[in-house]
Amino acid sequence: MKKIFFLLAFFLFSISFNTSYAYKVGLLMPTQNETRWYNDGFVLEQKMKNAGFQAELFFAGDADVALQQRQIARVINEGCNALVIGSIDGAALTEVLKEAKQKNIKVISYDRLITGTDAVSYYATFDNAKVGELQGRFLIGRLKPYASDDVKYIELFYGSIDDNNARYFFNGAMKYLQPHLDSGKFVIRSKQIDPKVIQTPAWSTQEAAKRMSSLIEQYNYRPSGERLDAVLAPADCIALGIVSALKREGFTDSNMPVITGQDASPEGLELVKSGALGMTILKNPDDLSSVVVEMVEAIAEGKEPQINDTTTYDNGVYVVPSYLCEPKIVTKKNMKDLIKNL
Ligand code: BGC
Repeated sequence: MKKIFFLLAFFLFSISFNTSYAYKVGLLMPTQNETRWYNDGFVLEQKMKNAGFQAELFFAGDADVALQQRQIARVINEGCNALVIGSIDGAALTEVLKEAKQKNIKVISYDRLITGTDAVSYYATFDNAKVGELQGRFLIGRLKPYASDDVKYIELFYGSIDDNNARYFFNGAMKYLQPHLDSGKFVIRSKQIDPKVIQTPAWSTQEAAKRMSSLIEQYNYRPSGERLDAVLAPADCIALGIVSALKREGFTDSNMPVITGQDASPEGLELVKSGALGMTILKNPDDLSSVVVEMVEAIAEGKEPQINDTTTYDNGVYVVPSYLCEPKIVTKKNMKDLIKNL
């Protein structure tokens, strides 16, 4: 009898032990070719493991949408409790996530909003509009349209059109730039302003360099040619392409137009240090991954995760409860203070 009692107690103990440790979370990052995502993936995986979750990390090659769909399907089939997804094409996961919903697997949109589905439960991100606003305000601060009657020449770049964030970055920046375009103080020689025209497919550095080179050719943006005062670049990966195209035409760190960035990537920070890039934006992966771990912990305990935004992020089906972290501007002046805390 005693023996049976002990066996039963051991059995119950191992079940409860296993369930707390067998909470499986699939982590799906969009690409391994951008340091931002590479870093985020490993920081998140480590934090999940430290919190006692069984985490499995995937990168979707070089932003390969079909590969990401297959990875998600695989994790769902193998059995998991939650999914954390940094999507490539936010609208391309509707089908594969139907299965997640049926199996009651909770889905957290990581940094980028997954659209067109109610299978997403929560969205953890940075304040994306604020990212754009910081970029727009920075350009105003450097171009000083109020200080003289001079016209300033700018060109605009947009992120990848399939990424919901791109719109927020652009609109945030345009809130500050548009009034000066309307007044004629800022001029876009190319007149290119439509997102479909100024987009950078897959946030590709090469695509950005290609478009910058063609603007240089068409409008003679050269140190000895027509003036170009600033370029709005939504992220470091795009700024890198723009800077390299301009450097090929003889621009140097000291006569480079004012260019914006985002991500505080090692490459971006190098350019900020050298002066080729005016600013970048720190989106600390520690902040975001802590929020995601807390969300998963709450879900695992059957509680509601903490959210701080219930109005902004309509994914076309419903307004997804979100938690927005704070992005921080990084310039040559403050980079030492900010980056040592990483
Ligand atoms: C992210 C940015 C990143 C960009 C390119 C966006 O969705 O929010 O941080 O620079 O994708 O990867």
